[in-house]
Amino acid sequence: MPAHQNDFNLSLFLCFLLVPVIEPSLKIDDQTPVEGTPVQLSCTVKVGTQPITYIWQRHTILDGSITLHEGNTSILVLDPATRSHTGWYTCTVKNMVNEETSGRLYLDVTYGPDEPEISIKPYAISETGFAANELEEVTLNCSAASNPPCHYIWFYNYSQMYTGQMYVIPKISRTQTGMYTCLAQNAHLNTRTQSTISLTVYYLPVGSPTCTAQAHNNYKDVALWCSWPGGFPLAKLKWLQPNEDKVIVSNSNATLIKNGAQLQNGSSFTCSISHPSLKRNISCSTTVVMPPGGPNCSAVATKMNEFIMLTCEWTGGLPRITLQWNNNLIGDIKESSNIYVFKPDRTYNGRLFTCTALHPMMAEPADCLIQLGKLSYGGED
Ligand SMILES: *[C@@H]1O[C@H](CO)[C@@H](O)[C@H](O)[C@H]1NC(C)=O
Ligand SMILES: *[C@@H]1O[C@H](CO)[C@@H](O)[C@H](O)[C@H]1NC(C)=O
Ligand SMILES: *[C@@H]1O[C@H](CO)[C@@H](O)[C@H](O)[C@H]1NC(C)=O
Ligand SMILES: *[C@@H]1O[C@H](CO)[C@@H](O)[C@H](O)[C@H]1NC(C)=O
Ligand SMILES: *[C@@H]1O[C@H](CO)[C@@H](O)[C@H](O)[C@H]1NC(C)=O
Ligand SMILES: *[C@@H]1O[C@H](CO)[C@@H](O)[C@H](O)[C@H]1NC(C)=O
Ligand SMILES: *[C@@H]1O[C@H](CO)[C@@H](O)[C@H](O)[C@H]1NC(C)=O
Repeated sequence: MPAHQNDFNLSLFLCFLLVPVIEPSLKIDDQTPVEGTPVQLSCTVKVGTQPITYIWQRHTILDGSITLHEGNTSILVLDPATRSHTGWYTCTVKNMVNEETSGRLYLDVTYGPDEPEISIKPYAISETGFAANELEEVTLNCSAASNPPCHYIWFYNYSQMYTGQMYVIPKISRTQTGMYTCLAQNAHLNTRTQSTISLTVYYLPVGSPTCTAQAHNNYKDVALWCSWPGGFPLAKLKWLQPNEDKVIVSNSNATLIKNGAQLQNGSSFTCSISHPSLKRNISCSTTVVMPPGGPNCSAVATKMNEFIMLTCEWTGGLPRITLQWNNNLIGDIKESSNIYVFKPDRTYNGRLFTCTALHPMMAEPADCLIQLGKLSYGGED
């Protein structure tokens, strides 16, 4: 068996020159370093013919296995260690004969908390921060990167309200407008950070919007008036005029002035109303109407002519008809019905009274006249 003898001698010869590497041992000087400090990993192999190559690898679920370094260095320094260094580490040693890999060691870099991020549900923003509608359920979610995970404490206007990541306010009220602060604490590192948001609670004005028409500019114009006072923020009101480009947008009150003579009887005008608490715009409308007929005058005397009551009436319409007696020299200006009561004496015999009706959609004022008769005993006009 000379051939066998020769093989044996050859392998004995090779083994003598080239010793295989054995499994190396891996050490980390601090397995839970604080982010920013240096970490040293060392790989020791007791047996193996030089030259030995060291292959450093990190293993994570997210990235799989990544080779960090391959060369003749048995020490890997991470300076500074960061959160991205977190993972399982191995070193592999390799020579001309074979390669062996160490057991895994976990490097757990501690850090944070970073500055917390606050999110809100339902999501809405105001001029100064976040916004919510009154009576809604509002969820504030605080989140800060931290290892180990941090704890959260919520403050409202700097008084402590809640411990936990998510602060739920079931039916938020306008009185809960203010500053909300989330404090994040890493108990292991004894570190803390905080963020503050401003939350504004919106609410609607009470009741419903009003649309109406009033006489304006000495009964020449019609003022279309749309109003819904109150609420926060103020409701935005806008008269819609399909044929004109002049659009008036205002808060709480919107007034649109139209020349009365140019208004067609029965024209409708719509005011559109928007508010952040409304899912969609709402509207109210008004129709300008010139009532038919004219002013209706009558006089009634009480028993013994003690008092005389003059009545002038013209009801209906929008704007209402304005009625005045004797060019406003007697009585008051009234809408729709103007009753004037006075105590007569003989100087009133045969006196003429004029009721004038004014309306922007009427080119000229309309009068009705009433002449008193001879006032003696119990007589009427
Ligand atoms: C290790 O390798 C570097 C080059 O990569 C070389 O400069 C250095 O001399 C080597 N050290 C040893 C101990 O072989
Ligand atoms: C809270 O915010 C964090 C970070 O954005 C997110 O991962 C988590 O799912 C949120 N929680 C809820 C209940 O929305
Ligand atoms: C909270 O602060 C806001 C302004 O920062 C203030 O408008 C509100 O009235 C305060 N609320 C309470 C209950 O103090
Ligand atoms: C709206 O109009 C009413 C009545 O004319 C008035 O009292 C109120 O001050 C007005 N509001 C605003 C915000 O202009
Ligand atoms: C609602 O009203 C606002 C302001 O009045 C306006 O800017 C907006 O275009 C309106 N939205 C719709 C859908 O009509
Ligand atoms: C204006 O229209 C109304 C109905 O819309 C009608 O009753 C009235 O008589 C009209 N007025 C005039 C002056 O035509
Ligand atoms: C005046 O009033 C009377 C009684 O109410 C009514 O019969 C008449 O139609 C009225 N006239 C006018 C012009 O409105």
